[in-house]
Amino acid sequence: MIRHLLSGADLDPATATLILDTAAEMATVAGREVKKLPALRGRTVVNLFYEDSTRTRISFEAAAKRLSADVINFTVKGSSVSKGESLKDTALTLQAMGADAVVIRHPAAGAPHRLANWVDGSVINAGDGTHEHPTQALLDAYTMRARLGRIDGLHVAIVGDVLHSRVARSNMLLLTTLGAKVTLVGPPTLIPIQADHALAPGIEVSYDLDAVLPESDVVMMLRVQRERMAASYFPSAREYTRRYGMDGPRMARLPEHAIVMHPGPINRGMEIMPAVADSPRSTIVEQVTNGVSVRMAVLYLLLGGK
Ligand code: ASP
Ligand code: CP
Repeated sequence: MIRHLLSGADLDPATATLILDTAAEMATVAGREVKKLPALRGRTVVNLFYEDSTRTRISFEAAAKRLSADVINFTVKGSSVSKGESLKDTALTLQAMGADAVVIRHPAAGAPHRLANWVDGSVINAGDGTHEHPTQALLDAYTMRARLGRIDGLHVAIVGDVLHSRVARSNMLLLTTLGAKVTLVGPPTLIPIQADHALAPGIEVSYDLDAVLPESDVVMMLRVQRERMAASYFPSAREYTRRYGMDGPRMARLPEHAIVMHPGPINRGMEIMPAVADSPRSTIVEQVTNGVSVRMAVLYLLLGGK
């Protein structure tokens, strides 16, 4: 088993499938009256969050607790980071307290990779800048498999602000590893230029959402990440929604079995309309539920739980 989970590229088909299968077993714990396993008793998981999070932080905490690990939640606000303490010194402090795993979210791409050189325990990337978010890709793959029965051969459209999306990058890596075909869809300004030059085999680019919809098994909508935009990437919010927003009429163009995903948080009325977000085709809430099982599986396998 791998020691760290830093990138979707760390996951070969066998490792990814083992995590998804283990997550399916973990999901049965959620249905029990006592939602706990003793697998990580005596182990310590530190959640080190330098960037805001609702789903990822809470689901890692729930996952570690369901496996009976001790959990330390570190948020930058209120810590000695405000006194200028570096990531390395913060990490060494946490290590001195006996962290077996560090779950890190950081605004700088590559921060989890640096951390992995400094600490003895496992490092899990919970989102680094615009770079990667591998556990999101795993929970997305889990959700596709649960809804559609497979990943191999699926056509997945990843739509919107691909340029700033670590979710898109990790999904591109994992989904192509598992045999899906991926089409990136959005305005040219929000699709990375290298995507045209085979970022990975099995990845295509389209600027026309309406043309891609009828051939898609999965449409993964992305949030427009205004907090990462220093320039103007499209004429207006209205224009963006008109070309790339998922609304009722667009949903009707999808094949009957197709699902609509979104990692959250959503901009209701911008990239996704309430009629879609709240429809039975939407997996937004399931993705959050599945995130706990997938993160249980990742912690369990990385820490060699018993
Ligand atoms: N929550 C996801 C992330 O942190 C997606 C998003 O924020 O739009 O990358
Ligand atoms: N999907 C996701 O990572 O959500 P948070 O930013 O709320 O953790």
